[in-house]
Amino acid sequence: MCALESGPKSGEGASRRGKGDARSPPVTASSMAPLARTPGNSGVSFLGVLSEGSTVPLDTDVPMNSKPPWLDEDLLRKGREFATKYLFAVVSTQVPALAMIFSFQSGLEPLIFTGKSDTPYKAYRRYLSTVCRIMSWYETDFFDKKSEGYRSMAAVRIMHASVFKKMNEASREELRSKTTVTGRETGVWSTHLEVLKKDFAEMDVDESICPFAGLSTASKEHGEFVFVNQLDLAFTQFGFVALPILYPEYFGIHGATKEHLEGYCHLWRCVGYLLGIKDRYNICSGDGLDATRERCRAIVEKWVKPGFRGLTPDWEHMYRCVLEGLNYYGGFNTFGGMIAYLMWVLGIPVPHLRSIMTWMETATFYAQWFIFRFLLTIPGARAILNYILRLNFKRALNVSPAWLQRKKEIIYDYERLSDKI
Ligand code: HEM
Repeated sequence: MCALESGPKSGEGASRRGKGDARSPPVTASSMAPLARTPGNSGVSFLGVLSEGSTVPLDTDVPMNSKPPWLDEDLLRKGREFATKYLFAVVSTQVPALAMIFSFQSGLEPLIFTGKSDTPYKAYRRYLSTVCRIMSWYETDFFDKKSEGYRSMAAVRIMHASVFKKMNEASREELRSKTTVTGRETGVWSTHLEVLKKDFAEMDVDESICPFAGLSTASKEHGEFVFVNQLDLAFTQFGFVALPILYPEYFGIHGATKEHLEGYCHLWRCVGYLLGIKDRYNICSGDGLDATRERCRAIVEKWVKPGFRGLTPDWEHMYRCVLEGLNYYGGFNTFGGMIAYLMWVLGIPVPHLRSIMTWMETATFYAQWFIFRFLLTIPGARAILNYILRLNFKRALNVSPAWLQRKKEIIYDYERLSDKI
């Protein structure tokens, strides 16, 4: 079978029994909802709730030191156990997840607005910090004042409150000029989008409840729209939760138990709560793993896929910056290879993209396939890759100023050629 031609089928994604955890039921085809393409009613009706969230601001009043009444400490511990046990795989899902998060315009605009990740160098620094903060939520108890996770949570809350204030107080003119990279003298790094859009134009999707084109724009026009709203927050949260729970084995999560995945959702319910997501809009506030999977599946099918049709050069530019920034750690995260893999997992054929992929991009695709689908099934591989991941982050945090300066001075083709376009 050619991996590039076939994504996960309905019912795949089942895992084997987690070793050493005889109490927990194995995640099998029968214990987990199948990966059907059609989301259930509860998932679809949740989209209606989320849509209302575009006019509801993030909740900055949530106290950091009080635990929510629904908190289940054991489940949260299970979630941390899962995230640290499968650290390499879980962190790896967050890279393709950004391609989905960036497809939502009102999630991308604040990132362009603050200008902290719009070049590969800036993205390297920004996402190194992001991953370290998120890892601290996986590795320490963020409800404990003395923990690293608590400190990171407090810092992120301040960043969100700051961007919320700045954007909602900005003039229309300032917003117009600062929320896009298009038209900048330094150029826009977008080479594959037009070809990719041919694939999306041929995709079979249901656009009946797509708020991307209509809702955000409409509410902006009516003056009710707020930046950094509940819909944006929930959509970002979806990015962190969806891939590990919908497609575990496609990202190297083999042998996870249902309890593990439920714990991971509970962890993200708590993170969402502390970051100001009201329970009503929290992706993980549903009743159990299947409910969260239904919600995520509905978002993928009804919003993400149709949303791909409206992608802009901003999307490609910002995502390329992330990938190139990641390559500074060592790695070959090529744009075509990463996108082709994500589309394969989501079941979106991309023949036009494949026709222009370089050998390096094709190699990235197969490297992911090999690592996630094969290598991580081998006993011991998970621990080794977790170790290498941690080592890489340690190295990245301790690079010399001269190394940083060299990276900062790199001039990319898109910058060099920008005045000729
Ligand atoms: C559950 C949802 C979210 C999570 C887990 C999350 C996570 C984070 C983290 C870890 C950072 C720290 C980055 C650093 O250390 O430099 C951060 C910063 C930031 N986040 Fe979020 N975020 C979420 C939602 C959002 C949303 C919805 C927006 C905007 C619509 C947003 C915009 C920002 C901005 C502007 C920064 C400051 C850094 C920058 O300018 O790039 N975040 N977020």
